[in-house]
Amino acid sequence: MARLVVVSNRVSIPDPTGKGSAGGLAVALREAFQGQDGLWFGWSGKVSAHPSAEPRMIDKGHVRYALMDLTATDRREYYSGFANRALWPVMHYRIGLSEFSRADYAGYLRVNRTFAGALARLIRPDDLIWVHDYHLIPLAAELRALGLANRIGYFRHIPWPAPEVVGTLPGSQDLLRAITDYDLVGVQTARDADNLRRGILQEFDAAQRTADVIALDGRQARVKGFPIAIDMSGFEQAAPRPATHRLLKQTVASLGSRSLIIGVDRLDYSKGIPERMEAFERFLISNPDQRGRVTYLQIAPTSRSEVPEYAALSRTVSETLGRINGAHGEPGWVPIHYVTSAYPRSVLAGLYRIARVGLVTPMRDGMNLVAKEYVAAQDPEDPGVLVLSKFAGAAEQLGGALIVNPNDKFEVAEAINAALHMDQAERIARWQRMMDLLRRYDIAWWTNAFLKELAGQRKTSKARRPA
Ligand code: G6P
Repeated sequence: MARLVVVSNRVSIPDPTGKGSAGGLAVALREAFQGQDGLWFGWSGKVSAHPSAEPRMIDKGHVRYALMDLTATDRREYYSGFANRALWPVMHYRIGLSEFSRADYAGYLRVNRTFAGALARLIRPDDLIWVHDYHLIPLAAELRALGLANRIGYFRHIPWPAPEVVGTLPGSQDLLRAITDYDLVGVQTARDADNLRRGILQEFDAAQRTADVIALDGRQARVKGFPIAIDMSGFEQAAPRPATHRLLKQTVASLGSRSLIIGVDRLDYSKGIPERMEAFERFLISNPDQRGRVTYLQIAPTSRSEVPEYAALSRTVSETLGRINGAHGEPGWVPIHYVTSAYPRSVLAGLYRIARVGLVTPMRDGMNLVAKEYVAAQDPEDPGVLVLSKFAGAAEQLGGALIVNPNDKFEVAEAINAALHMDQAERIARWQRMMDLLRRYDIAWWTNAFLKELAGQRKTSKARRPA
């Protein structure tokens, strides 16, 4: 069997208890290594004044981790700058928030080249290479330039928007071309796949060979939807465990007979957190009988706070929260509880299970695994209701949710009300529909489907210099 080499900006090394990072990408990629030896290459998360050109190697179980440090300038230009300040907003349809700088873009290309150089020295001819996410788009082109002819796959965890939107980002033409250096490109949804293929066909003199395959300059890239999934058995087992964690115990104790509405997101403007709080306020205004009978718990771990747009969001959320709680709260009842710490998956599973409503209303999201986890954690006899944004990739699969447009706070408020009043038979029917799909397409399906297809690809005919 070919060795698997995973490359991602974030690398998750299991901690001594064997649990490791609880992030969706990390959990998904750990599954990829089940039953086979592999190498996981990426950023150590550390900054160093003089980083070594060779990665630090750590062996854990059958996986070898290869970790690269970055300089402070690399981190600022590649990670905070181009990836998270220019690319991320455009890919989430927020053109107005995108701040492009040539220095940042040069830093992004430089780090990709450095990573490719270090990785190439570790690669064996038959390795299967699987690169992840928007930080590393040019990696295959750089590896090809170094002469590697291995099969290289790419998975995109965030959306790929319509060509007119992507085209606003300086450098996007080069990135589009670089995508075709991968043999297989996986995206979250059929819409993302269609957008990406259209982008390549509009921008270059490329040919569409089959529904999925685009040919450009003698190379062929297959672009396909592989909706990422969750570890179903892990979640179904964790959710019913008795409440032992402090947050879970406190939440249960403070709820009394109130219904819990829950939102869990990284503190990111793509998640629509202030908009969701305003929709909840609208729900309280429209349904005064519900005052004092519901609690909305928003868990939002701080993220990328060195990026100015994230710091501004943090202020907006605090202001919105303070205003709503001040205007609607009463002695003995705080409408919105807001927590910025990250909690282990097992605690989240318990909270999802006691929440009558899962509020997942991003303005844009590649997939959104919280939506899937909320469904997986429910009690089969008495499940809660998922309210889901039509702009989350998960909406393509989770038709059993109440699907909403997060830009319309009245619509979201009505969905919250409908969810709280939905009868048990309808809740079970909707939940069952979603569970059937989640069980069929779980995380093992996702990794196997991608890797099988990548392994079956014709080996790239020639290495080349990037244009
Ligand atoms: C999204 C991205 C991941 C990223 C994660 C956390 O899910 O798709 O690539 O790792 O956000 O963001 P951070 O900037 O902390 O890695």
